[in-house]
Amino acid sequence: MDIDDVKARAGPREFSPSDDLPLEYREAATRMLEFHANSEVMGGYLDKEFTRMAPSLDRKLACTAKCQDEIGHAQLLYRAAETLGVKTREEMLADLTNGDGKFLNCFHYPVDSWYEAPMIDFFVDGAAMRRQATLKDTSWEPYAHAMDKVCFEEGFHVKHGEDILRELMTSSKANQERTQEVFEDWWPRMLQFFGPTNDESTHNDFAQQVGLKTVSNDELRNSFLNMYMPKAEKYGLEIPESPRIFERDDGTMAVREDDLDWDEFWTIAKNDFEGSHEQIGSRRRRQEAVEWVRESMTDWETAGADSPQAAD
Ligand SMILES: [Fe+2]
Ligand SMILES: [Fe+2]
Repeated sequence: MDIDDVKARAGPREFSPSDDLPLEYREAATRMLEFHANSEVMGGYLDKEFTRMAPSLDRKLACTAKCQDEIGHAQLLYRAAETLGVKTREEMLADLTNGDGKFLNCFHYPVDSWYEAPMIDFFVDGAAMRRQATLKDTSWEPYAHAMDKVCFEEGFHVKHGEDILRELMTSSKANQERTQEVFEDWWPRMLQFFGPTNDESTHNDFAQQVGLKTVSNDELRNSFLNMYMPKAEKYGLEIPESPRIFERDDGTMAVREDDLDWDEFWTIAKNDFEGSHEQIGSRRRRQEAVEWVRESMTDWETAGADSPQAAD
């Protein structure tokens, strides 16, 4: 199949490992899947901080379960990426720790307080849901298949985050004020979650032509805005003045994208932000700490039939 055939056939779940696909398609799908899988790992790493900060045992258990889900999502997505035959899971994990792997902007910012739990677990996971729901119709079948399970679990994550937000915003005045403060920091980052504007997005057109993406970054951003702005207001959060929000002819709201800090976004995209070094370094140290487990597994596997365990 050449790339024109791919474009002509592109549709939901159209291509699978039994198709002979051109390298251009396989590389583009790998790039998307690797970015997504890396983001699940780095999101999970950020999330685990909330287990320590959570104010009750129930909250700690829910935070731990969510964190485990995210690492599970990463594993599914690395496997779905491997089926494209471009990179192995080990190569992708190595690239993530050596600073070459890319991941979502929101996971480059460290978290310092429990007030940030609903920012990640409600709003950022809510943003992830907006995007992931559309990926159930991506053209790479193993990716769409993984989204069935991932979206099911993300639904729980969003409910968990919403419940924390409800609790904070119906408690003391001080808690409400602290939640509003962190919301103001996170709001522009959440809007940038969907990536650069369509004009600036280098891979957008191709990904849409071959059916990997079905909805553009700007459409997803505005769909998130229209769904989550009323939810934020329902819990008493005030939407910051910047970026400006305006009403479109069809009555829906949209963001003035020029008001967002794109210099910071592009620094993050290069893994060059202060927080990027911190998050990637932390991931690398943790991967090194469990290297002995990988080594002993490899030793055991290479011992093969001669090992006493295999003989048993
Ligand atoms: Fe996830
Ligand atoms: Fe999640």
